[in-house]
Formats: sequence, structure tokens, C-alpha cells
Amino acid sequence: SAVYRAGISGTRPAVPSTFAGLEQGARRALSADAFAYLAGGAGAEHTMAANVEAFGRWQVIPRVLRDVAERDLSIDLLGRRRATPFVLAPLGVMELAHRDADVAVGRAAAALDVPYILSNQASRPMEEVVAAMGGGARWFQLYWSASDDLNASFLRRAEASGCEAIVITLDTHLLGWRTRDLDLAFLPFTRGQGIAQYTSDPVFADLVRERVKRGVSDAAAPAVKVNAKSVAAAVGMAREARRAGLVDGGLADALRSPLPRAAVETFLDVFADPSLTWDDIAKVREWTDLPVLLKGVLHPEDAERAVDAGMDGIVVSNHGGRQVDRSVPTISALPAIAERVAGRVPILLDSGVRGGADAVIALSLGATAVGLGRPYAYGLAIAGATGVSEVVRNAIAEFDLTLGLAGYTSPADLGPDALRPHPLVE
Ligand code: FNR
Repeated sequence: SAVYRAGISGTRPAVPSTFAGLEQGARRALSADAFAYLAGGAGAEHTMAANVEAFGRWQVIPRVLRDVAERDLSIDLLGRRRATPFVLAPLGVMELAHRDADVAVGRAAAALDVPYILSNQASRPMEEVVAAMGGGARWFQLYWSASDDLNASFLRRAEASGCEAIVITLDTHLLGWRTRDLDLAFLPFTRGQGIAQYTSDPVFADLVRERVKRGVSDAAAPAVKVNAKSVAAAVGMAREARRAGLVDGGLADALRSPLPRAAVETFLDVFADPSLTWDDIAKVREWTDLPVLLKGVLHPEDAERAVDAGMDGIVVSNHGGRQVDRSVPTISALPAIAERVAGRVPILLDSGVRGGADAVIALSLGATAVGLGRPYAYGLAIAGATGVSEVVRNAIAEFDLTLGLAGYTSPADLGPDALRPHPLVE
């Protein structure tokens, strides 16, 4: 492949090719707070580690002499042909990794024809990211807000922005017990980071105005501290707030006004709805005609319910081990889910996918596509859009080589026959 040839012809890559190298590079490039937010998991990080280790329970059994000279990596996904079985998982607060944040990720994804799932917790409004993506494929990820009006508004904007599908993330109705962030007393949202989809939203602007009118914001504690570190975030928010018509005056006025603080407090109010149930899910059809996927499904019963509820796909994910520590690793959860879903809807899988060989295993066990998460965040931290692009290209290249070396020519050829359980690992 082109990546391999470039590698051995002496062109120096911008990012390391191993996950360990990427993580090390990101740690060097970032502040302690930012790295902890990206790299950290819930609790003692058992699940974060298990996500990766569980891939080791499977072994590929390569076949020989099968003419693999011509390989086609494309897949069918939601009625469209995609060049590869990779998508970019939604990652919030990418301004922690790089100042170009979601815009850089969007550029890289579009250039590689890899669908990018825009995060609800993005650092840039979806309209700005989409403008930078040209025609690149994008989906929108929703955290089901306590405000239905806000949900409807997000999905209207996603449709207007040409998003092809909606991914509802269901594993974050409460924020997980994130020990690294707790130790550093770090929550980006309270500094106004990762709330650009909100501060650019007209319905959210109304909610903030109401809050200010009620006088709640003035009394509410704790205030967002405008210290050296959060000044940049406050300026960004004020700018967003102005663009969204929250404030009419200049930047100085905006900074002096209580609006940035009110915006953060409103966000904390409406971010999620922990009382959500299966009965509420149908409501999404009032808000959009786009295909809807449920992310964070780990139990076969829930996969079945998602299909029964008319959902168009599921994403087997444990949020990269950031929510329920000791939860089941995704690759271990996949076989039972694939059996239950029985091909009725596509199954995506993320959490622990570190390269192309992992994708071969996931597809063999019934996934249609896999989501990359932390690897591209680290690429972004090290080298911006170029870093993201190299990380994704490397994953695709490794997938292509592993597929061919295992004796297969397309993702559709992969099935349980391609693997065996590791004989020494339970
Ligand atoms: C996430 N993830 C996530 N998921 C989501 O639905 N919306 C979001 O805004 C975010 N934000 C986010 C930020 C960061 C820094 C991380 C690491 C993860 C979860 C993400 O989509 C995906 O499920 C995990 O990243 C998969 O785990 P690995 O493979 O990255 O370890």
C-alpha cells in the first residue's frame, strides 16, 4: 500500500505508528489536565485496559494460496458504499488536543472518505466543521438533553448540515467516576470548553436568557473562574455567544456580562436526562427522518430492543472505559449481540480498537464497521490534521495488509471461520 511504501522509502511520518507511541507523544504535547481528560478512564481503569486485552482472546488463522492480489476494503453502511470499514467515533472537547480541534479532524476525515461522527460536546459548532469538510461524510452524535426543544434544534441543525445519520449516546446520562479528572479537579465544561454546539444554538440561547431573567445565574454557585487558564475559553464563548445573538455588545461587554457563566450553568442543567427510558426513544422520530443508531449498547437484550424500536443500527461501546469501570469489554460483548441482531441492522463497535488487526477481529465477529477514538485524538495532539490523517491511514493500511495476509480480499469474506479463541485465555 501507499502508506507502507512511503514508510520504507524514507519519508518520515509525523506520528508514531504504534498506539503506545501515540499516547507517549500526546502526553508530551499536552498539559497534564488535557492529557488526563483524553487518556483517562473510569475508576481504576479496569475496563479501559480490558477493552484492549480482550482482543487478545481471539487469534486470526491465516489462510494461504488464495489469490489476494486484488483487495476491496469497501462496505455497505446504511445504504451507502463506504471506502473502508472505519468511522471516527465522536470525541468531545478536542480543543484540549489541538486549537483546530474538530475542524482539523473533519478535514482529515473528509480527505480519507471516512465518516466523522460530530460530537455533541464539540469545540466548534457543527456548521463550522461541516464547512471545512467539503462534501465529506458526517453523522451527528446526540446526548439526549433534558430539554426536548434543544434536542429538536440539534437534530434540525444536523439535518441542515448534511449529516447522514444520528447517533444517540446512551451511556452518559450521568458522568462516569473519572479518577484522573477528579484528582486534578478538572472538568472542561465548567471552563466553557466543549460546549460550542450549545452556545451556537438558538434554543440554547433562549434557555440562557430565561435563566438570566429568573436571576438564577447571579445567585448560583460555583462561578466559573476566569483565571489565566480559562480566559481563552471565556473569550471563545463570548464570541460564540455574540454570534448566537446572546449578547449585542462588543467582546469586552460580553466578558463583563454574566452570560458566559449563565451559559455554562444552563449547560450543566440540560446536558443529560438520567430519567430517559425506552418509551422516550420513539420521540426521536418526531425530530428527524435520518437513520438513528444507539451508542453504548452492551447487552443482547438491549440490542434486541433497539431493533424492535425501529432503530437503524447500534454501536457496541463502553465509551472507552470512561463510564462503568468493570463493564464488559466491547469485543467480548459483540458475539452475543451479533447473534441476536442477526444482520437486521448494522453493528458498529468501538472502545479498544487500536489498529487494523483489531478491525479484522471485530468484523469477523459480526461488526459492520469499527470506530477509532483515542488513537486519532493523540494524532491530533501531536500533529493536528496531519496527525489525524496519518493515524487513520495507518489503521486502514494495517487492515488491508492483515486482510490480505490472512487470505481474504474483502470485509464481507470475514466471519467466525477466520478466527479461533486463544487456547490459553479464558
Ligand atoms: C469520548 N467519547 C465520546 N462519545 C460520545 O458519544 N460523545 C462524546 O462527546 C465523546 N467524547 C469523548 C471524549 C474523549 C476524550 C474520549 C476518549 C472518548 C467516547 C468515544 O466516542 C468512543 O466510544 C471511545 O473513544 C472508544 O474508546 P477508545 O477506543 O478511544 O479507547
